[in-house]
Amino acid sequence: MTQQTRIDWERPLRSGAVFNHSPGEVTLLDLSIGPNTYTRLRLVADDVSADEDRQFRRLLPGASAKARHVSRHWEFGAPARAIDEILCDPAAFAAGPRTREHTRLRRAAVARLALDFFKVESRLPYSIIALYHEFFRRLTKFLCERAVDYYDDDYFAKDVRYALGLTVPAGAAHVDLHSRIGPKLIGRDLLHTWSPATAFRYAASAGWGQWYNEHLDLRWMKEFNPTGWTACYARIVELLELNPRIRGLAGVSWFYDPAVASISPHLAYLREMPVQQGAFLVRMGTLPHDIGNATVRSPLRRRMYDEGRYQPTCYVLAWPRRRMIAWARNAEAGHGVAWPPRQGSAPAVAAGAYST
Ligand SMILES: CC(C)(COP(=O)(O)OP(=O)(O)OC[C@H]1O[C@@H](n2cnc3c(N)ncnc32)[C@H](O)[C@@H]1OP(=O)(O)O)[C@@H](O)C(=O)NCCC(=O)NCCS
Repeated sequence: MTQQTRIDWERPLRSGAVFNHSPGEVTLLDLSIGPNTYTRLRLVADDVSADEDRQFRRLLPGASAKARHVSRHWEFGAPARAIDEILCDPAAFAAGPRTREHTRLRRAAVARLALDFFKVESRLPYSIIALYHEFFRRLTKFLCERAVDYYDDDYFAKDVRYALGLTVPAGAAHVDLHSRIGPKLIGRDLLHTWSPATAFRYAASAGWGQWYNEHLDLRWMKEFNPTGWTACYARIVELLELNPRIRGLAGVSWFYDPAVASISPHLAYLREMPVQQGAFLVRMGTLPHDIGNATVRSPLRRRMYDEGRYQPTCYVLAWPRRRMIAWARNAEAGHGVAWPPRQGSAPAVAAGAYST
């Protein structure tokens, strides 16, 4: 069955509205995070001793600059490691890693980064700026209520990026602003498939430049559905329109593997619609965490993996900017977006649906 969802193209200030105080970047002054969130963040930031406060004031400016710098490296967790380096330095902070005290320091660091070092070095559309009120509210709630005894490494890695403005919210997914698809990856795909198709698509989109990279955050999955993804992609299109240097949107996941459609058809839409609208896939292979992610929630995929009938494989889904913007234009013209049907049914064309 074709699913029809609508994008609210009529929202105010859509035509590239940016609230930036300084051109080309967004600071906390440009966001309305609300007095309640601000006060709670301040409390978390100040949950430190006088000596810890001194150390934070002395070390966090340098550590945050380093975190911002290393965020251009491919490794997602590098900024968090730059912050943990100072928290785990016994000469500065006595608490050892993985203790309750370390958790408290991590919380305080994230709150201080958000309050004093948040800076998005990019132009943002209104549709993304408008998400920040709720986004920072949830982040603050997490800091106050859930990261109490233990701060999960993966969540800390994400939160450092959010607090520094390196990764921005877009709804169903969050977007890293600096990412690349290395030519080596394309070379490996070529060797594996013996087909130059991906290399051509990469070259045609000048794929060696800067891309956005999407991420899931398992704490906030309410919009993980076709409607949520449609709205998310519409926001990312606006982001691309404001930032013409960016080559497009990339995402890395086991669920972009074409094999997933036949095992878990309810996830097929994640790959099918972007691919029908000009995205291409680059095969990456399998790391242990890909197997974990692909099988943790699904008894069926777990069983098939155990029986050797399914090998989770990670793919990059790369949606070049021109094609992604064209998708949005078509959707806008029809005031609606239809996701493709499941395998085996007729092609998706509904009244008001996109066309290619
Ligand atoms: C990605 C993820 C959020 C998708 O979750 P999901 O939408 O619930 O889809 P899943 O197929 O994983 O769902 C798990 C089970 O719920 C059921 N289910 C969920 N949504 C369903 C739907 N719409 N229709 C039918 N069954 C559904 C399935 O039956 C499935 O079990 P089964 O495969 O044994 O039948 C989930 O797999 C996950 O959290 N993975 C770990 C983290 C991860 O992969 N992160 C991304 C890294 S790139």
